[in-house]
Amino acid sequence: MDDRELRRLMLPELQPSMAAHIDRVVDLADRLARRHNLDVARVRLAAQGHDLLRLVSPSELLARAEARGMEIDPVERAAPVILHGPLGALELEERFGVDDYDVLEAIRWHTVGHPEFSSEAWAMFIADKTEPSKVERAPTLGGVLDLADESLEVAALAYFDLRFDEAIRLSQQQHPISKLTRDALVASCRTS
Ligand SMILES: [Fe+2]
Ligand SMILES: [Fe+2]
Repeated sequence: MDDRELRRLMLPELQPSMAAHIDRVVDLADRLARRHNLDVARVRLAAQGHDLLRLVSPSELLARAEARGMEIDPVERAAPVILHGPLGALELEERFGVDDYDVLEAIRWHTVGHPEFSSEAWAMFIADKTEPSKVERAPTLGGVLDLADESLEVAALAYFDLRFDEAIRLSQQQHPISKLTRDALVASCRTS
């Protein structure tokens, strides 16, 4: 399975705006992967699959997670959109035969991050957050992308700092995994 085959399988289920977002993420993730000598095929496949369920309604995402007996964090209950990552990974595996563990992990955690993310997963994560239309809407994200040329982890840390600041401003809860992820990034950026 490569990203082009997955694109062909997913396309009938995607709204055009979402297909366009995914195409931009694949392009940028590809560039970041080449820049850092990563596994380009894996990064492209993760980018292609990451938003299969992004436009499923919050109530439907919760219902699907409950039907599967998934453990649902209170932060996910308050913002079920987070569940499009884990549920998307499961559906890509079951329906489209995506079976690469690292690709599925990158997709599962692409909204909240993960302390054990591979460099490939970070490339896809950064591309998702900083693709051109997102930078257009929120220009501070351009600074995150600039950092990614040098280090994906430093860029990811800058992204979490922006997001945590925003969460404080809006009195939003952060996902517990995001807190662990930020701690892990602080530790690894300090030692490298
Ligand atoms: Fe997403
Ligand atoms: Fe996305």
